[in-house]
Amino acid sequence: MSTTAQPTEIDTDKLMSFVFRAVDEVGATLNAGLVVMGDKLGYYRDLAANGPSTPAQLAERTQTAEPYAREWLNAQAAGDYVTYDPATRRYTLPPEHALAMTDPDSPAFLPGFFQIALGTVHDTEHIVDAARSGSGYGWHQHDTDVHVGCERFFRPSYHANLVSTWIPALDGVEQKLRDGALVADVGCGHGASTILMAQAFPNSTFVGSDYHAASIETARSRAAEAGVSDRVRFEVASAQEFGGARYDLVTMFDSLHDMGDPVGAARRVREVIADDGTWMVVEPIAGDHVEDNLNPVGRAYYGFSTLLCTPASLSQDVGLALGTQAGPARIRDVTAAGGFTRFRSVAETPFNRVFEVRP
Ligand SMILES: C[S@@+](CC[C@H](N)C(=O)[O-])C[C@H]1O[C@@H](n2cnc3c(N)ncnc32)[C@H](O)[C@@H]1O
Repeated sequence: MSTTAQPTEIDTDKLMSFVFRAVDEVGATLNAGLVVMGDKLGYYRDLAANGPSTPAQLAERTQTAEPYAREWLNAQAAGDYVTYDPATRRYTLPPEHALAMTDPDSPAFLPGFFQIALGTVHDTEHIVDAARSGSGYGWHQHDTDVHVGCERFFRPSYHANLVSTWIPALDGVEQKLRDGALVADVGCGHGASTILMAQAFPNSTFVGSDYHAASIETARSRAAEAGVSDRVRFEVASAQEFGGARYDLVTMFDSLHDMGDPVGAARRVREVIADDGTWMVVEPIAGDHVEDNLNPVGRAYYGFSTLLCTPASLSQDVGLALGTQAGPARIRDVTAAGGFTRFRSVAETPFNRVFEVRP
């Protein structure tokens, strides 16, 4: 039996509304570059410090060329990042936007989010090739904007929540850290979480590890700058092989889903954790079903998952490719396969969920 495709009737209003939504998104795509530019050139910090400004004033104070300052300001005004007053021809960064664009300790800080997004998009060609061949593309192969952007994106949330909320939500862990505990921070990247914990708990000892040697080098210099090198050590090691024994606390901040063999990592945690120890797993927030994640945060995370995290996992042995939106049920399965018996969700933010996992 042969079938003939029926002509589909096109609703012109729907078509045009889709096209205009896409125009907005092209503007948003370019805006990622503009935000990184404004962050690197100090435009946002300058506007926050000096108030309403002309392009010439912004250019002079930041020692940049006026045509760039002018066009950048116009693009920012069209995108509602700054306001424009035609009477004075001055541009203003509203105080709420100034906080989000300039304060790296605020949980609302945005430039890191854009930096990791732009760095990720920058490597799209490699992901196109990898999708064709079925291979992966490792975390270590990416543009440094991915590594620095990752640190600058996640650190504000760790700064706001880790010591004040997440650790106290774990059964008995805060007291152990106060008394003096041994902690492993696995997949620590530039060590933002390791250093925040070391600053808060001076009686405890911390071992950060990551398979990416350049990240560990940066983590070591961050620890020296923060004055905590005496109780923080960093090592280049994969999560399946990191060293040590009888850890009171093992942490993984946004790293489990990037690993090729998260079950192998779970097994390693089980081998080195004390019998009464705790494994804290921080993962991107997600529900268990695709339909739970079809929202703006899920959209951003599925984007990172496709271009960054899934290729990272596929570049390693096993290549489980959990993705950023695996959801609590799959994370629980991974920990159970590694030999853990207890699992509960203890905290969440708009971007992360925190799990307590115990032997
Ligand atoms: C999204 S980044 C998070 C970094 C850091 N924990 C943070 O929150 O800023 C994921 C990290 O996992 C690391 N990673 C990926 N696979 C790994 C593996 N098998 N063993 C150790 N680290 C791994 C990457 O090198 C990267 O630093």
